Amino acid sequence: MARTTTDAGRADGTPLPGPAAPVAPARRGVSRRDLLTGGLVAGWGAAIALGVDSARRPAPTAATPAPEPLNGTVVVPFHGPQQAALTVTPQTHSIHTALDLRPGTDRAALARLMRLLTDDAARLTQGRPALADTEPEMASTPARLTVTFGFGPGFVAAAGADVPAWLAPLPAFSIDRLEERWSGGDLLLEVACDDPTVLAHAHRMLRKDARAFTTVRWVQQGFRTAHGTSAPGTTMRNLFGQVDGTVNPAPGSAEQARAVLRSDGWLEGGTTLVVRRIAMNLDTWDEVDRPGRGASVGRRMSDGAPLTGGVEHDDVDLDALDGTGLPVVNIAAHVRRARATTPDEVFYRRAYNYESETDGAGLIFTTYQADPVRQLVPVQQRLAEADLLNTWTTPIGSAVFAIPPGCAPGGYVGETLLEG
Ligand code: HEM
Repeated sequence: MARTTTDAGRADGTPLPGPAAPVAPARRGVSRRDLLTGGLVAGWGAAIALGVDSARRPAPTAATPAPEPLNGTVVVPFHGPQQAALTVTPQTHSIHTALDLRPGTDRAALARLMRLLTDDAARLTQGRPALADTEPEMASTPARLTVTFGFGPGFVAAAGADVPAWLAPLPAFSIDRLEERWSGGDLLLEVACDDPTVLAHAHRMLRKDARAFTTVRWVQQGFRTAHGTSAPGTTMRNLFGQVDGTVNPAPGSAEQARAVLRSDGWLEGGTTLVVRRIAMNLDTWDEVDRPGRGASVGRRMSDGAPLTGGVEHDDVDLDALDGTGLPVVNIAAHVRRARATTPDEVFYRRAYNYESETDGAGLIFTTYQADPVRQLVPVQQRLAEADLLNTWTTPIGSAVFAIPPGCAPGGYVGETLLEG
């Protein structure tokens, strides 16, 4: 099978091997080359359309133009050097589930578990039912389904390996009000998809197969702007209405690879994931006027452009002064406090909104980085010390996971830890 072209590389400049090549049907305004170079859907990974329906479609003629391919038929390759989720353009829906290992789950059991879950993920993401799938029809339209596995400290310890120092709860921050029910966990299943029904089915199949080995610790469901609602590349909005995700390495870019990939031992080619659940108080946010809202971040509410002028992707000028000699961007504005002060502080963030009558609203704020202590903690510490957004936001959950590399067909995620 051909390989994708990719501009991604490691910090030392060596290129990443590309995952399986994408193939896509003709689509208005989208060339095959766009897809091959990952321009639209992914960088290190890429999507492939199943074309499940093609036999039943009439041949296109001038009178009946070729129908738009359905997003349901688009698949993200599963096998490859990295787990696919990171490099794909974020899907609309996600479920992060943390599982705890049942007592006595040893290294051999972990290998059985990960073989099973990997097989499920390899099938479901490609539009095929899992083994013994009770609802096989629900697998046929994967809609860019990805499944990602992460290991907490308990998993690595049960595997008999040394637990790295960074694979531990983040230090306590003064703003934290962490709840056990949203924190920690031995094994992370992260499933993401553009279709919530397909997502629910995949989640259920994985949970079923994990049940003999694990119990559920927490489940966090989130969503972003729906597929097809805005032009590709539009930055999502969070539930405060802010354009959120502007200054961030692009999924699949060399910059992202540099920020997230590790090159040591069983985690070579893997990364780390921090999942923070941050409650957002929409009632008190309602009391803030438009200028106050923009000032809290340093960017305009309307389009995410800097308060110092320009358009969304322009830099905020932190040195700009107004007519009275005061900084245009408040000294405690979120972007002033969050901006990387060294290259080491760059990480990749991916947020999902959550909202429910019982649990309120907020962000499932996830970050990928090679080392959370070196890259994320200094930024979070600065924000804990001063950030206007803290008026309305409260971290209520926190968990840290190692994200092992991907695997080749026949292999399984976690083999570098469990077979090494
Ligand atoms: C509910 C909590 C949060 C909300 C609503 C929020 C919202 C925003 C918004 C609207 C922006 C400006 C647009 C953009 O560049 O994305 C932004 C930027 C940013 N945020 Fe947050 N954020 C939250 C929490 C955090 C946390 C906990 C961190 C890190 C520990 C963080 C790190 C960043 C970074 C690095 C930037 C880009 C700064 C720059 O270089 O301009 N954010 N955030």
